[in-house]
Amino acid sequence: MAAKTILVTGPNGFVGARIMDALSGAVASPSLREADGESVKRLMDTVQPDLIIHTAAMSDIGCCAKDPEGSYRANVTLPVLLAGCGVKTVIFSTDQVYSGCREEGPYREDTVCPANLYAEHKIEMEKRTLDINPDTVLLRATWMYDMPRYGSPNRGNFLVSMLREKEITLSFAQRRAVTYVREVAALISRAAELPGGIYNYGSENDLTMEETALWLKETLALPIEIRDAGPRHNLWMDCSKLREHGICFHSTIEGLKTCIEDYSL
Ligand SMILES: NC(=O)c1ccc[n+]([C@@H]2O[C@H](COP(=O)([O-])OP(=O)(O)OC[C@H]3O[C@@H](n4cnc5c(N)ncnc54)[C@H](OP(=O)(O)O)[C@@H]3O)[C@@H](O)[C@H]2O)c1
Repeated sequence: MAAKTILVTGPNGFVGARIMDALSGAVASPSLREADGESVKRLMDTVQPDLIIHTAAMSDIGCCAKDPEGSYRANVTLPVLLAGCGVKTVIFSTDQVYSGCREEGPYREDTVCPANLYAEHKIEMEKRTLDINPDTVLLRATWMYDMPRYGSPNRGNFLVSMLREKEITLSFAQRRAVTYVREVAALISRAAELPGGIYNYGSENDLTMEETALWLKETLALPIEIRDAGPRHNLWMDCSKLREHGICFHSTIEGLKTCIEDYSL
């Protein structure tokens, strides 16, 4: 990757900031909130990237539901514009695409059923970016966590809530993974070498959210009370397609152990 010019969108966001840390020399995109075809073309002419890593998005499910047009612009129109630039593009998608699947899981890439607008838009984005450029790499990410990063805002995440809150409400029976965002960033150069297509991209977790939270509570002797939110749909991903391409994440528990060690928690 050394000689490549890499453009990272959303460089001050939760994932983008960590990707900027992981890829020295990457070019930080300006905000693309108001971007249109013309401004995207000007950006490409100026930067002339060999690779685009697109993290900018409207990533909050509730915000997308309240502002469907804004969500469509951010989560479909913008990535389609970028994928149409004729440059290899890596785009983040989400495990929410499985939020309405009838099966228990774990889910492989071809079983999708969105239960919210954010996920609907991400699925449309995946299809349209692949149609426009079959070399596009779509990464379906899980809920990610990290400790706060100096100089940039942290977003609500599982680890920070477990460390800071007096109580946390989770669906005890829900199966989903949480992933250490620094691992997501560390593996991004490898992800950029994947053939075009859709990949579940994150830790795998055979434990329920109750078991995961209890493990963390006991490991760090946290005083937190864990409450059951009642049943919620699984978001349980099978990442074997990614593993077949040689990209292996730690499991959720191993990832949490790494983070605990990194920050001496
Ligand atoms: N965080 C997670 O746990 C998680 C889980 C699954 C999937 N993902 C996906 O991973 C990617 C990165 O997530 P993230 O947590 O890093 O996102 P984020 O921090 O919420 O947002 C990243 C950047 O997107 C830009 N942005 C916000 N609203 C926008 C809009 N309406 N139009 C265009 N750009 C906008 C902002 O940059 P500017 O201020 O510079 O405009 C922001 O810094 C997203 O595609 C998200 O859907 C995240």
